[in-house]
Amino acid sequence: MTPPETDPEALGTDNIVLIGPMGAGKSSVARELARICRRRWVDTDRLVVQQAGVPITEIFAAHGEAHFRWMETAAICSLQGSSRLIVATGGGVVTEPANLPLLQALGCVVWLTADEDVLYERVSRNDRRPLLQTDDPRATLHRLLELRRPLYSACAHATVDTTTCSHGHVADAVLAQARAFFQSRDPARA
Ligand code: S3P
Repeated sequence: MTPPETDPEALGTDNIVLIGPMGAGKSSVARELARICRRRWVDTDRLVVQQAGVPITEIFAAHGEAHFRWMETAAICSLQGSSRLIVATGGGVVTEPANLPLLQALGCVVWLTADEDVLYERVSRNDRRPLLQTDDPRATLHRLLELRRPLYSACAHATVDTTTCSHGHVADAVLAQARAFFQSRDPARA
């Protein structure tokens, strides 16, 4: 039997939104959450790529980061009014101030964190992230984290550390946090 603190049914119709830096595991955890909760998951990066018809690296190369951010906001707007979704976002989603209320309006926003060294080890496994194609990607990651930490904090309703946990354990922790959030917002749901 599913322990009550992670019972997927307790989520009602609300969405769960995952934010956090590159390498935090947002997409993998979203996929795992969707499996556990039998819900659909979407990834705003994928929505942008579908819309553009080219990979993120090409969007950045051809049109620049500002254009990518504009498309990212459009993707988030397209989700407004949706229910029962697990939403994974890109690591820079919080840099556009208009996105914060849009993400919060979708449901429970959970910030996936991890130690910086672990994040770097994870993002070093491929070169799909245009912002890290610099002479010193480690320093770039550090700078981005410093800039964005307060933004994640301002946007998130809850936080889950992923440094040492499997995707399954992180998903369970996210569910517990989301359930607590929805109950505190609507005590009648308990
Ligand atoms: C970005 C993170 C990426 C993607 C884009 C920009 C960022 O998503 O949206 O390359 O600004 O941190 P992930 O966090 O899934 O890597």
